Amino acid sequence: MTSPSIQTLGIVGTGAMGRGIAQIAAQAGLRVRLFDTNAAAIDAARSYLQDTFAKLTAKGKMTAEQASAATANVFAAATLEDLADCDVVVEAIVEKLEVKRELFVKLEAILRTDAILASNTSSLSITAIATACQHPERVAGYHFFNPVPLMKVVEVIDGLRTAPAVGDALMELSRRLGHTPVRCKDMPGFIVNHAGRGMNIEGLKTAGEGVASFADIDAIMREQAGFRMGPFELMDLTGLDVSHPVMESIYRQFFDEPRYRPSAITAVRYAGGMLGRKTGEGFYAYPDGQKAVAP
Ligand code: NAI
Repeated sequence: MTSPSIQTLGIVGTGAMGRGIAQIAAQAGLRVRLFDTNAAAIDAARSYLQDTFAKLTAKGKMTAEQASAATANVFAAATLEDLADCDVVVEAIVEKLEVKRELFVKLEAILRTDAILASNTSSLSITAIATACQHPERVAGYHFFNPVPLMKVVEVIDGLRTAPAVGDALMELSRRLGHTPVRCKDMPGFIVNHAGRGMNIEGLKTAGEGVASFADIDAIMREQAGFRMGPFELMDLTGLDVSHPVMESIYRQFFDEPRYRPSAITAVRYAGGMLGRKTGEGFYAYPDGQKAVAP
């Protein structure tokens, strides 16, 4: 499968990441098939996409014709089998190795043998996900960032058995989607969740030691260190249901390396369902759903 022949993209898991990937693919003219085990999540993703295209049209960033073409490119799949004609399927489901493995086994039985299976995992090994597959050479990591349409960089990850042509095709596809791809090897956390992990971990330690408030640490990291968001703003955006398991997963994969030790501060919030923006309450409160209010 080469990039120009990629015309139909399947997305499994239509939450925050799946819908963002669907948006850029539909805008780039690809047919997009959405599947989620929760049918309401597919409906929500389609409504979100329609609203987004309408807003972009109102702002003059899309023409009405482009908006209706992008909307017409998005199809809801009633079953996983409806993804049979997809050239690439990107999974953005729950961050659990066994669940992702099971999905890839099911997808292999449905898709053509030259179709690419890509995972948007933040932290799990691509090689490990692919071990369940008969054709691990067609499995690669495809790690977008949140919010996908604005974060215009994507990691393309080669597992130990990924065929180079599969990574090449995803590199080219990324450019068609208006993103800058960065290629990397399958090591825990890839690039950003390895090199960038220190900010969250050290931010949590700084707060835990009572040095400063979440808001003050964020302000310094944003305004002085030059990050777009501080660690607590970022964790609230990502959601602790994603961030905390990612921290645990990377720590374990590096054999309990102290540099990556997760924090009790996130563990207790994760357990308590204070996940961030998605629950209206995280390190900050989100009374109107969007705007952060410092505690
Ligand atoms: P989310 O919770 O917003 O959406 C996940 C969706 O997957 C839900 O709609 C759920 O119903 C569906 N789902 C769960 N199990 C399924 C299955 N077996 N088959 C089909 N659908 C299933 O999660 P989010 O935040 O979109 O994350 C998805 C993936 O993307 C995770 O692997 C996460 O680590 C990764 N990721 C998340 C980022 C973030 O900032 N939220 C950033 C980059 C990667």
